[in-house]
Amino acid sequence: ETLIAHVERDDPSPETIALASDILRAGGLVAFPTETVYGLGANALDADAISHIFEAKQRPANDPIIVHLAEPDDIGIVASDVPDLVGQLAEAFWPGPLTLIMKKHRDVPGNVTAQRDTVAVRIPNHPIALSLLRASGVPIGAPSANRFSRPSPTRAEHVLADLGGHVDVVLDGGNTDIGVESTILDLTSAIPTLLRPGGIPLEALRDIIPDVQYTPLYIEEDGIAPSPGTLSKHYAPQAQLTVYDGPREIVLPHIHRIAEGHLENNDRVGLLLPNGDVSRFEDLPVSIATLGDDESTTAARLYAALRELDNLNVDIILARAPEEGGLGLAIRDRMTRAAEGRVVKVQS
Ligand code: TXA
Ligand code: MG
Repeated sequence: ETLIAHVERDDPSPETIALASDILRAGGLVAFPTETVYGLGANALDADAISHIFEAKQRPANDPIIVHLAEPDDIGIVASDVPDLVGQLAEAFWPGPLTLIMKKHRDVPGNVTAQRDTVAVRIPNHPIALSLLRASGVPIGAPSANRFSRPSPTRAEHVLADLGGHVDVVLDGGNTDIGVESTILDLTSAIPTLLRPGGIPLEALRDIIPDVQYTPLYIEEDGIAPSPGTLSKHYAPQAQLTVYDGPREIVLPHIHRIAEGHLENNDRVGLLLPNGDVSRFEDLPVSIATLGDDESTTAARLYAALRELDNLNVDIILARAPEEGGLGLAIRDRMTRAAEGRVVKVQS
């Protein structure tokens, strides 16, 4: 039985937060909103509680979990040999959607870090997440609160759809703010390396770390992933998604022709498009889930839109790739993974 507790985003009820933190300290699972996506939380220092996260999500044991803290002073509880750069990054981006990989503290259970000697740490910028962290007084290990390989949850109902019955309580704080996950930066490599683009744009990291490295990795399911979280099938809808990338005036007629071809085959077709593109498809019997017309609304809508199209039982989803800069890098990364790598460059 999963308890659903509505919580005011900007004024979380202390009674509800106390109830949730009691559950956490007793080894239970609490789903809660962060500024990025909903997390499935357990006491990060309790190996047993963490093992229940892996079971609930059906997450492979080799995929490590991010540890959430209330404030930078808590880093020493979970990390050791903390690099000086952390001070500067914390100052610039915490609380916020930046996750840092550092050497782990020996007290962090092996299952949190998937037996690695490093730990992922972030301080979320969300009043409910921060109240929960402060009230429980423990670091909270929390992956996204979706079933493994499904789109991440940006609303409490997404959590319930995937994990209802497997979580003790869901704190329903409405829509998350950003909609894509945190940026992950590895500080244990010789040169700091971006492992996952996310809510903090790469350009913002470059202001502090001019030589930060990024090499996108998309690994097939049966391949050996050099770093966790690089599988190309991730965030995937049930329908087959293909992403079309190129100049708008070339991509839109192309998507139109592809959609017509699928409709002739009697496939149910879904489109994932900015609002401004919708009028170009009014002549076709397709289902359309809209993204925003700018990068922040697109990020906020992406996962919910994928779930909407799945709920309409479409067979095929066609999407137009957004521009690359800022949050666009993270959006394109998630679309590529949701499409299991099917990204078509349309030139002419
Ligand atoms: O925005 C977010 O980061 C959300 C919210 C809930 O905080 N969390 C999230 O967690 O996206 P999850 O588990 O869905 O993604 C965490 C990623 C995984 O790809 C995992 O492999 C990577 O972080 N990760 C965790 N620990 C790591 C480590 N020690 N080394 C490298 N990657 C690590
Ligand atoms: Mg996830």
